[in-house]
Amino acid sequence: MSLDHKQEYIPFNDYEVFAEAYVTRTESNSHNAYYERPAMFSVLSDIKFKRVLDAGCAGGAYSEWLVNRNADVVAIDISKKMVQFTKQRLKNKGQVYQADLNKPLTFLNNSSFDIVVSSLTLHYLRDWEDVLKEFHRILSPQGLLLFSTHHPFMDFQFFEKADYFATELIEDSWGGFGDTPVRVRFYRRPLSAMITALTSAGFVIKQIVEPRPTHECKQLYPQDYEKLSTKPWFLIILAQKGS
Ligand SMILES: C[S@@+](CC[C@H](N)C(=O)[O-])C[C@H]1O[C@@H](n2cnc3c(N)ncnc32)[C@H](O)[C@@H]1O
Repeated sequence: MSLDHKQEYIPFNDYEVFAEAYVTRTESNSHNAYYERPAMFSVLSDIKFKRVLDAGCAGGAYSEWLVNRNADVVAIDISKKMVQFTKQRLKNKGQVYQADLNKPLTFLNNSSFDIVVSSLTLHYLRDWEDVLKEFHRILSPQGLLLFSTHHPFMDFQFFEKADYFATELIEDSWGGFGDTPVRVRFYRRPLSAMITALTSAGFVIKQIVEPRPTHECKQLYPQDYEKLSTKPWFLIILAQKGS
């Protein structure tokens, strides 16, 4: 399905359906626990006492890691169940709100965060311009945005799309989250669309990481290790608030 801006845009909340299964599985699976999270954590240095927004917190794995390192965390997610899981996990050590990243984050003040972390969430948003402007607004001068997303080449190849340069809706079906496959919808877009959205919002790209799986992944999930070692799957971008 191609992108049609004339159609009414209804945000998805697909994770609400399999929130518990997602949180349980991603505690120790190959792609999150031994590939994406270690790579993201390795970029996040110097977070003690930093004000961090976890945008798309899911069950709170990132928020917990951050509060355990004395960061001052606000976590948001569109899914009510995910918000509950993160609240339980943080035990009042951070603030957790239900919020849709497609909408202005009016409850967050200008320049009130040092870092925005958004793990594997932005591809659920059709338009990145507004959310990136909001991240820019709430970040302090020189503040950092660290996010991960599907690698544009992976989505293009895996779904055998005809036009790499299109931004388009993908509807996928994931097994392993219960008795029946779950429906997941997201948007793929070319690398140039990601970079343009970031720079138009006032960010400067500091680092691009194409993660590799960890040694533990090799021991626990040898087949996934082989795949993730040789093919791009996720992409990580560190950007800084410019002028
Ligand atoms: C793949 S999960 C994030 C994984 C998580 N950061 C982790 O590893 O712990 C994606 C999350 O984005 C949330 N999400 C999707 N669309 C959203 C939106 N429009 N606003 C806020 N959260 C959204 C989902 O509910 C889900 O919890």
